[in-house]
Amino acid sequence: MKIVTAVAPVNIAVIKYWGKRDETLILPINDSISATLSLEHMCAKTSIVCSPDLTETKFWLNGELQPTDSKRFQNCLREIKKLVNPNLEYLSWNLSICSENNFPTAAGLASSAAGYACLVYALAKIYEINGNISSIARMGSGSACRSIFGGWVRWQMGNTTDGSDSLAVQIAPETHWPEMRVLVLVVNDKTKTYSSTSGMKTSVETSTLLKHRAANIVPQRTKEMITAIKNKDYKTFAKLTMQDSNQFHAVCLDTYPPCFYLNDTSRAIIELIHFYNQNKGETKVAYTFDAGPNACLYLLEKDVAEVIAMINYVFPPTSLKSDYFKGDTVPSKKLD
Ligand code: PMV
Repeated sequence: MKIVTAVAPVNIAVIKYWGKRDETLILPINDSISATLSLEHMCAKTSIVCSPDLTETKFWLNGELQPTDSKRFQNCLREIKKLVNPNLEYLSWNLSICSENNFPTAAGLASSAAGYACLVYALAKIYEINGNISSIARMGSGSACRSIFGGWVRWQMGNTTDGSDSLAVQIAPETHWPEMRVLVLVVNDKTKTYSSTSGMKTSVETSTLLKHRAANIVPQRTKEMITAIKNKDYKTFAKLTMQDSNQFHAVCLDTYPPCFYLNDTSRAIIELIHFYNQNKGETKVAYTFDAGPNACLYLLEKDVAEVIAMINYVFPPTSLKSDYFKGDTVPSKKLD
């Protein structure tokens, strides 16, 4: 019998991935960039048992048995098994996979990114595979390929049809920008109404803004973002992050029928942050929103206390829960 347990954190994109050119291989229409949070808070944890005594392969997520015939699960397992030494005696043994997230699942908080990164990493450990497994994690959930690495990560869209060059690379390690913090404001922890898969598909089919974004905006913005991260240029980083989040949600509105991921509270947070930055005479905090109403704020350690106080004042804690993550790159310590 073999047993492995792995933990993988979520990543929060500052240049968003939105739109696939290949639905099966999960190949994107643009590059994306994210920071992987530290391991202490928003994580997926996966344990795998591989044993000749198991009569079938089973997969539990947050205590609920999941279908193992899902295309994404099967794709990951198949691609991992392709890399395994065919003589490995336990290659044919069944698996018992148990995964859990310590934060709301499918609420637009990158749970699938952490989940699939963790699953693929744990499978790679069970079968003793080395090398860049990010393109396999990508087949579970696109953004999962970025959670394979810590620190600042770029998912290169690649241009082959087989997806062999569509993988994540680290731009800078977790130690690079130690002052950076992420605050996650949970506006709503319920499962989102439109999955990112169906939202993306409809955007690709109907949004002309998405085509313009992928062809004319993201390539240049990606270069600028990499330079800003490398130079620890917070002002440029913050502006690009907010512009990219806003453009992603503009694409969602340009989609027909539209996907509404932000709600009134999300929009109030956006207004508040611009008001706050303007009032301070400099950019102190940047927001970004994934496919859901919850806000992720990127800010520097020195500004965390005041920003939390300001948020708690405007949105008293009963109406908005705030978590403060402190750690290595984009770090983790909870404020109660
Ligand atoms: O990996 P998916 O299918 O959950 O898509 C994630 C898309 C966004 O979170 C909205 C953006 C991103 O780059 O993470």
